[in-house]
Amino acid sequence: MADHSNKQQARVLSGMRPTGKLHLGHYVGALENWIRLQAQYDCFFFVADWHALTTDYADTTSVKQNTLEMALDWLACGLDPDKATLFIQSHVMEHAELHLLLSLITPLGWLERVPTYKEQRDNIKDKDLGTYGFLGYPLLQSADILIYQADYVPVGEDQVPHVELTREVARRFNQFYSLPKPKRVFGLKPGDSEGRLVSYETTDVLPEPQPLLTPAAKLPGTDGRKMSKSYGNSLLLTDPEPVIRQKLKTMVTDPARIRRTDAGNPDICPVGDLHKIFSDRETIDKVWPGCKTAGIGCIECKKWAADGLWKVLDPIQQRRHKYEENPRLAWEILETGSTNAKKIATATMIEVREAMHLSQSFDHV
Ligand code: TRP
Ligand code: SF4
Repeated sequence: MADHSNKQQARVLSGMRPTGKLHLGHYVGALENWIRLQAQYDCFFFVADWHALTTDYADTTSVKQNTLEMALDWLACGLDPDKATLFIQSHVMEHAELHLLLSLITPLGWLERVPTYKEQRDNIKDKDLGTYGFLGYPLLQSADILIYQADYVPVGEDQVPHVELTREVARRFNQFYSLPKPKRVFGLKPGDSEGRLVSYETTDVLPEPQPLLTPAAKLPGTDGRKMSKSYGNSLLLTDPEPVIRQKLKTMVTDPARIRRTDAGNPDICPVGDLHKIFSDRETIDKVWPGCKTAGIGCIECKKWAADGLWKVLDPIQQRRHKYEENPRLAWEILETGSTNAKKIATATMIEVREAMHLSQSFDHV
């Protein structure tokens, strides 16, 4: 089990909404990076089940199954409970307490200004997102981050404003409330733009985290648009080999290549994007000149892309089968992780309550 007793490594925290089985976009856009990070940092990765409910509150029946499916995919991809703490947000209820306390000091305007807020509220037509919970969800995310005093938050571009909000909220909290005596901490010194970990004295309770922007390779879905469950264009991590091959057969290509004799350009073809991520040098060296001179056909090109993709998915699916046979194991991993996460969250909340002069007990009355 990951050892947090003596923090000498930078702490990394990130979460993912449980939407069910994950697709290749989740792998390339987040998981692959998380797996790299778990070797180097003190990592906390959690199932953001409360976050899922900020939009899917009307029917919550699938949240449990979706949590399991996502955990199976995480473990299959190589997230390792010996290296990272894997847990469920709703099992650490302290997140909710910190969210409440932060909501007291967060101006409405800060939340209304979050770029995704108005856009999603107005564009998602099938649910009413004019709720208190939906407006507040970036602040719940702030609580998720700050309760672990995380140094770094790996996120995609769209989530950077949420980490920025988190930094502003932390600063405001620390201005209003602080510990009576300085404590020695090891982490990112506020205002150190180099992001160096140092040991220093502070009365701040909630250190400011920094975003770790995930280098995002372009991964289109089968229709050429961004891969997304709601577009129905996804390649799932759990798709069997024939399904992957079939989906690739129908994948859109460079529209300039109508006939076999037309030249194309892999740099504007979604299949080319897959090659860039999953194919070896040798294949790339066949595809680029071959496509541009009409020397190869799209059918064989797609077959090669499927080969490269399957090389990555095959071991993932084999590992998943082991956990599928015994899903208890996955639940136990999340349970143990939640218990460990709770210890850290509890320690932070003791400081938060002390800084806010909330009584912890009547002992010293
Ligand atoms: N909001 C993130 C998303 O929709 C998930 C998330 C919740 C998260 N809490 C977080 C990510 C804390 C990073 C840190 O993808
Ligand atoms: Fe795309 Fe390959 Fe066809 Fe070129 S040969 S257009 S890269 S599928």
